Amino acid sequence: MNSIAKASPRRQSVIKDLSLAPYGHKKLEWVQQFMPVLNILRQEFEETQPLANKTIACCLHLEAKTGYLLQTLKGAGADVIACASNPLSTQDDVVAALVDSGITVYAIHGESTEEYERFLSMMLDCQPDAIIDDGADVVTTLHKDRPEQAKKIIGGCEETTTGIVRLKSMDQDQALQFPMMAVNDAYMKHLFDNRYGTGQSVWDGINRTTNLVAAGKDVVVVGYGWCGKGVSMRARGLGARVIVTEIDPIKANEAIMDGFRVMPMAEAARRGDIFVTVTGNVNVIRKEHMEIMKDNAIMANAGHFDVEISKGDLSALAVSSRVLKNNIEEFVMADGRRLYLLAEGRLVNLAAGDGHPAEVMDLSFSLQALSLLYVIQNRECLGNHVYNVPAEIDQRVARLKLQADGVQIDELTGEQEAYLASWDTNL
Ligand SMILES: NC(=O)c1ccc[n+]([C@@H]2O[C@H](COP(=O)([O-])OP(=O)(O)OC[C@H]3O[C@@H](n4cnc5c(N)ncnc54)[C@H](O)[C@@H]3O)[C@@H](O)[C@H]2O)c1
Repeated sequence: MNSIAKASPRRQSVIKDLSLAPYGHKKLEWVQQFMPVLNILRQEFEETQPLANKTIACCLHLEAKTGYLLQTLKGAGADVIACASNPLSTQDDVVAALVDSGITVYAIHGESTEEYERFLSMMLDCQPDAIIDDGADVVTTLHKDRPEQAKKIIGGCEETTTGIVRLKSMDQDQALQFPMMAVNDAYMKHLFDNRYGTGQSVWDGINRTTNLVAAGKDVVVVGYGWCGKGVSMRARGLGARVIVTEIDPIKANEAIMDGFRVMPMAEAARRGDIFVTVTGNVNVIRKEHMEIMKDNAIMANAGHFDVEISKGDLSALAVSSRVLKNNIEEFVMADGRRLYLLAEGRLVNLAAGDGHPAEVMDLSFSLQALSLLYVIQNRECLGNHVYNVPAEIDQRVARLKLQADGVQIDELTGEQEAYLASWDTNL
């Protein structure tokens, strides 16, 4: 049941049920203990208040780790408003706790596309100064539907690969009206979040949903980018035989050298027991593949949008379908084969799990917070483009993480610094 929740300082949130807040607070407390870098930054921001008088709109997966980022921004003095970047990843208890702590939220688990669009619009009606986006829906909505408002935005940050692809197209077309930080492209983001975060949490989502064994199964990973590498690595760790499909010859060679079999989807489709798409591309599993899949083949997506597995083709081929259990939909083909789709083809690790581990999101969200500050504090020096996260921010997050883990590393000696800076190797 939708209900209007308690008023935040200036406005009312729209969430499922505010009475769920105590459960959400506990979830937030749990992740906070494992996010030491964000804890250090939060302490600093609470003293310096770098976001005082700023309204920040965030469209993110609304679960506990993201919740802690939002609380950190609030602690930095910001007025924070959030909506969900995916209808199935919203955790209603976490959202209730956020509202309880003074953040405005427009999100309900399982919300329809129409509701999603309405909530996004309500968030933008709050006239944010800056944004945090995940998939670039906020940026594109501002540019398409609210061009005058877009001109007033100071800037923002983008969390994921797919969003950055969209932003770079806008930049190329000279359409961007404010600077955006490509947080995904920071080393401390994609090396850890996309690879180790997705690698672990995708299998957590698939395992807890299916309750089946991965060992001995043929797992087809579609796309061998940062996420695909992690998903393949962890599938092998579980004892699966991994097949990779790619369109990029360099990535295909990388997968081979990493010890995986590489073949076209037309061949992999016959062999796979479990398919995981992580390409950021559309219809990478479609009709001709579904027609030759084995009985009981399971399909899951970990790419940002639910477009990688053609749900239209699956429905068109099926003579019947039913939800067998939470997050598992069965499609029966005319020849009697049963194909299964997990979590409606949405990000399986978030829609059917709790997303990335807290320690990994600690890094991504520390980058988010520092990049947001950067874009706000350096607006005059930035054009309306997509910017890489400055190396100093990446380095700072890396050092804080080592510090939090009690790990020390060596430093260059003066001689080594001079050697590396010189072209004269006899120095
Ligand atoms: N599930 C999560 O929590 C999570 C986390 C980070 C990123 N993502 C999303 O996952 C997707 C992939 O991200 P990434 O960082 O790995 O991107 P990436 O660009 O590093 O990798 C994508 C790979 O897919 C390949 N590809 C494209 N079309 C293909 C096709 N038709 N068949 C086979 N391979 C194809 C590309 O060549 C590339 O190697 C994006 O949508 C991103 O936003 C999800």
